[in-house]
Amino acid sequence: MRKVLCGLLTVMLFLTGCKEKIIEEKQKIRIGISYYDSYDPFIMELSSRIEKQLNECENVIVKSVDSEKSQSTQNRQVSDMLSDSYDVICVNLVDRTAPKKIISMAEDSNVPVIFFNRELVSQDLESWTRLYYVGADAGESGKMQGEIVSDYIKEHPEVDKNQDGKIQYIILEGETGHQDAIVRTDVSIQTISDAGIVLDKLSFAIANWNRSQACTKTKQLLSKFNTNIELILANNDEMAIGAIQALTETGIAKEQWPIVIGIDGTEDGLEQVKEGNMIGTVYNDGIKQADAIADLSIALAKNESLDSFNLKNGRYIRSPYQKVTIENVDDYLKLLQ
Ligand code: BGC
Ligand code: CA
Repeated sequence: MRKVLCGLLTVMLFLTGCKEKIIEEKQKIRIGISYYDSYDPFIMELSSRIEKQLNECENVIVKSVDSEKSQSTQNRQVSDMLSDSYDVICVNLVDRTAPKKIISMAEDSNVPVIFFNRELVSQDLESWTRLYYVGADAGESGKMQGEIVSDYIKEHPEVDKNQDGKIQYIILEGETGHQDAIVRTDVSIQTISDAGIVLDKLSFAIANWNRSQACTKTKQLLSKFNTNIELILANNDEMAIGAIQALTETGIAKEQWPIVIGIDGTEDGLEQVKEGNMIGTVYNDGIKQADAIADLSIALAKNESLDSFNLKNGRYIRSPYQKVTIENVDDYLKLLQ
């Protein structure tokens, strides 16, 4: 009899324990992150920082998932998180022109969404009140890239290797249709021309933000133009690094290299600036963006006031870009330690 009673008591205690655990788990804030591609180094640096910040908060459960470049996969991931009662969902869209499904599902469940990095058009972002965007101003990065290049060329006239008064260049572009690819390309070139430098476009290649695609495409362009290229503009550091790899593997003597510049200030990008292979980069402040995403998620989950975020148009947070050259690269390398 005593044995039976003891057994019953243990089961009851166990069940109460389970119940408490379930209640405890239910009281925790759940934040979901879905990013477009785990092979993108900038996005992975950004997402790991969001996770790190959230994991430091008490009572927060964080789950991040890779959409593997498929919008339908991402839609399914968001739908699962909504069914699992997530409080806030952070979405790095696969297709920035196709957020409608995610928005309507979130609205039906009344769960706020913070979109980041891949910017949806304002009409979509404004289609429901609980939608936010965290990123940066693409035009600013193009302007800064153009300024680093024009300042450098003015100080180093030898960049114009054939001394024809023009700078022969190629440009490596990110994904077609991505706001950063379109705007960075236009503004960077415009800024260099506005500074009085005559540009001569030899060619361009779309390398989708990707190092190995940029390497392959630069090799093709090098086989056509060889040492005639004087400047390689890249929409991001990964593609600039791909170009450097192509220059190295093609065996072109370093004195004959064109100048190369990227955007992002990823760890690898900063190291290339430090080594003198890139004349500079433009720091895309992933730390500020990640911290803003983490803080905003918590505030939304707790239904706190958003006043301190100074949201532009009630929805946008944009971190400023910064110029990085050999002069200040060490300051940025320190940030990553
Ligand atoms: C970054 C790229 C990245 C892309 C992904 C851009 O802002 O500069 O490095 O691949 O976002 O969406
Ligand atoms: Ca020239």
